[in-house]
Amino acid sequence: MPVTVIVGAQWGDEGKGKVTDFLATQADIVSRFQGGNNAGHTVIVNGVTHKLHLLPSGVVNPAVKNVLGNGLVVDPKVLLQELASLADKGLVPQLFISDRAQVILPIHRWLDGAAEDSGGGIGTTRRGIGPTYTDKVQRSGVRIGDLLDPRRLRERLHDMLPEHLLVLRHRGSHIPASDYEALAAADLSALIADPTPLVEAMAEEYLAYGAQLRERIVDTVALLHDGLNHNATIVLEGAQGTFLDIDHGTYPFVTSSNTISGGACIGAGVPPTMIDSVCGIVKAYTTRVGSGPFVTELDYDTDAGGKHLTDAGHEFGTTTGRRRRCGWLDLVLLRRAVELNGMTTIALTKLDVLGGLSEIKVCVAYELDGTRLTRMPSDAADLARCVPVYESLPGFEKLSKATVVHASEQGLSALPKAAADYVRYIEQHLEVPIELIGLGPGREETIDRRKTG
Ligand code: IMP
Repeated sequence: MPVTVIVGAQWGDEGKGKVTDFLATQADIVSRFQGGNNAGHTVIVNGVTHKLHLLPSGVVNPAVKNVLGNGLVVDPKVLLQELASLADKGLVPQLFISDRAQVILPIHRWLDGAAEDSGGGIGTTRRGIGPTYTDKVQRSGVRIGDLLDPRRLRERLHDMLPEHLLVLRHRGSHIPASDYEALAAADLSALIADPTPLVEAMAEEYLAYGAQLRERIVDTVALLHDGLNHNATIVLEGAQGTFLDIDHGTYPFVTSSNTISGGACIGAGVPPTMIDSVCGIVKAYTTRVGSGPFVTELDYDTDAGGKHLTDAGHEFGTTTGRRRRCGWLDLVLLRRAVELNGMTTIALTKLDVLGGLSEIKVCVAYELDGTRLTRMPSDAADLARCVPVYESLPGFEKLSKATVVHASEQGLSALPKAAADYVRYIEQHLEVPIELIGLGPGREETIDRRKTG
C-alpha cells in the first residue's frame, strides 16, 4: 500500500482516527489534506486516550512523519495546545506543516460564531473553518509561511481586516475579551477606519506562533515526493466525511473543503496516478452533527433504536460535545460514496454498537413523491423529503469482551451469525471488500480480514 487515502463515507465521525492509527503502524508518513480543527479523532493506544482535532492520527506513533498539507486551515494556537498536551503524555511527534496551508485567525472564528448566532447558520463547529476557506478562495488569506515574514503578515492583515470588521459590525458582534482584552470595548467603526491596533495585536500573537513552529514549516509537497521517491508507505488522512464535501455533500449543510478522495490530490499535492488504494470508513449505522437532511434519522426521545445507537455508541462530538443525530445505515448514500471515492476497501466501524438490538434496519432506496429512487437527489430540500425504504435484518446480542477478543484473533466466524451476516450483506450491496471491522475503541479490538480471512 505505498499510498492509501482514508476517507469518511458518511457525515464524519465514522472512526477514521482509529483506522488511520491502525494503518499508521505500517506507514512512514501520515498526512492530512483538508479541513482544520473542526475534526475530532479519538485514538486509544495501550489504554491511553488521545483526542485530536488538528494533528494527524499518526502522531501517537513516534516513528511516523506527520504532515499538515497545503489543503488545511490551521489554527496555530490550537496546534501548539495539541502538541503541548501530547508532550504532557510523553509524546513528541515528528510534525511538518505546509507553508502553503491557510491560517485560521481570530477574525475567522468571530465571523463563524457571528453567522451562527445570527440564526442563519448551519450548525458549524464555530472554529472559523468556512471564513478561512472563503479568504483562501478570495485570495486574501494568510498562509502559514506568512507567519515567518512580519512585513508580509502585517500587510495581509491590514488588507483583510476592515472588510471583515464591517461584517462583524453588521452582525452586531464585537471582539471577545477572551482574545484581545484591551480591544474588547473598541469601537468597530474606528477600527474599520484604521485597523492598526488590531493588526498589531494579531501580528504580535501570530508572529510568536510562527517563531514556535518555524522548524516545522516546510514545503510538504517536496517532503511527500521525497518519500514517494524512496518508496515510503504514505497514508493520506481525510477529515469529516463524503456528504460534508463542499461539492458532493448535502449543500449547503456541508463543510468548506473537498473531503472525498480526490481532495487528497489537491490538499497534499500527490497526483491521482500515485494513489494505490482508497479506504472508505463506514460506520455500521449513520450519524450526523449539525443541521441538514438525514433520511434514516431516528428520534432520540421517541425511538428506542435512536436512543440505543446514541448511548451505546457514545455519540457525542469530540470537538463540540454536541449530541450526534443517529439513524440506520443508508446504502443509497454509501453507494454514492463508493462511486465518488473509488473505494478499494472498506473499514466498517462500531459494529459492536448494534449488539443488543433485536432488529437492524438498512435503507436500500428512497421514495420521493411516489417514485422509488436508488440515487440521492442533489437538492438538500428534496433529500429531506425522501422517505427511507428499509430491509429488516435480525439483530444480535451484545458482544461480550471474550467474543471481541476471540473475533479479533479469529475473524468473522467468531462473531454471532447475525453480526457476520450483516457485514456480508453490506459487502454484497457495495461490492467492495470489508477488510477491517471495528468491535470497540481500542486498536486491538479490530478484525483484520487480510489476516484472518
Ligand atoms: P464547519 O466544518 O465547522 O464549517 O461545519 C460545517 C458542518 O460540518 C457542520 O454541520 C458541522 O457539524 C460539520 N462537521 C465539521 N467537522 C465535522 C466532523 O469532524 N465530524 C462531523 N461533522 C463535522
